[in-house]
Amino acid sequence: MEVGGGEKFGRRGQIGSGWQAEAERQAAAICLLGYILACFLYFEPPSPVCPTTLPLEENRQVMEPKEKPILLLWFWPLGVKFDYKACSIHFNINSCVLTDNRSLYKKAQGVIFYHKNIHGNLKNLPQEPRPSFQKWIWFNVESPTNTARKPGLDNLFNLTLSYRRDADITVRNELTIRPTEIKDDFVMPKKDKLVCWIVSNKNPHTGAAVRAQYYHELSKHIKIDLFGSAYSGKRLSYEDYYTTIASCKFYLSFENSIHRDYITEKVNGPLVAGTVPVVLGPPRENYEQFVPADAFIHVNDFPDPKSLAGFLLDMKDDVYARYFEWRRFYTATPHLLSINNEFIQPICLACDHISRDSDFHVVHDLYGWYHSRKP
Ligand SMILES: *[C@@H]1O[C@H](CO)[C@@H](O)[C@H](O)[C@H]1NC(C)=O
Ligand SMILES: *[C@@H]1O[C@H](CO)[C@@H](O)[C@H](O)[C@H]1NC(C)=O
Repeated sequence: MEVGGGEKFGRRGQIGSGWQAEAERQAAAICLLGYILACFLYFEPPSPVCPTTLPLEENRQVMEPKEKPILLLWFWPLGVKFDYKACSIHFNINSCVLTDNRSLYKKAQGVIFYHKNIHGNLKNLPQEPRPSFQKWIWFNVESPTNTARKPGLDNLFNLTLSYRRDADITVRNELTIRPTEIKDDFVMPKKDKLVCWIVSNKNPHTGAAVRAQYYHELSKHIKIDLFGSAYSGKRLSYEDYYTTIASCKFYLSFENSIHRDYITEKVNGPLVAGTVPVVLGPPRENYEQFVPADAFIHVNDFPDPKSLAGFLLDMKDDVYARYFEWRRFYTATPHLLSINNEFIQPICLACDHISRDSDFHVVHDLYGWYHSRKP
């Protein structure tokens, strides 16, 4: 995750001037102390040496670092609202004021626009001029296949917020390095199913035909326990998500469309639960940039679904156990479940970002950037 990485660039802008105010106040306090000491030493007031640095009460008001940058949610993504406190509760991020109050537009340092909410005619974007300090953030969590090319978005945004590693603000479920002093207390969950898949979308227009076909072939050779609405599998409640995945030896982490870096929570789920993900998505090499090579099985490792099925069916326990060795070095963090929570982390990261970033940016060729790369 990018959070914290920016600290090395220092704190600037609003916050910087706040620190200055604090330093000046301290200097003034030291002066005052010196002045009083001087009085005791000389028994007559010496000429005041630093009276002007004593801030007047009204000046202090202006210099106070009381104002965090405002991050305006122009739309609630897909209309889904969440509690503003979520950023500090879940991600320990508290560095901006999140609001959906459009009257604060002129004061907002950042304005977030969720791509799906933008009208094709752009009429639902702000019509007032943009303040010179303000950054517009293009927010999108869908893959290029599922991102409509609405016209007029070039040279409009200042920052991109996406799963892509080359976005300005990258949001991903990433493994973190396990501190050496914290031992892995992993106990392999009891397995009563071989292969599981939670899937709610089989609409071929979303790119899902590739995985649908792979599943169809695979299911001829191995039993797959289905959950979710796509293939009339058993509906799962969010409470049962991790425990269900944990009860399966393998989990199909099949992305709906195949794009570089488009490796979603479908992989994080089994890694958290203690299950081996079988991935379908960009090439193995791309997965290995995020997940240890021996933590997952890639469908491309096999010439066809039948040989994958054979491999899974014949796997010996000691070979299976090796898929969990990565846990000695890394930790997987549970992601927030449900559509209501899906947008929280990206928005919190944007909040963190705008509180640190005072650089000038323009996103010139939005779709050229987003749609061009091959998996
Ligand atoms: C929105 O902000 C304006 C200006 O600060 C304020 O007057 C108004 O009460 C706010 N509206 C809501 C719904 O909070
Ligand atoms: C943001 O982008 C707009 C549109 O290209 C540009 O005019 C503006 O100067 C940029 N502002 C910042 C702070 O980067």
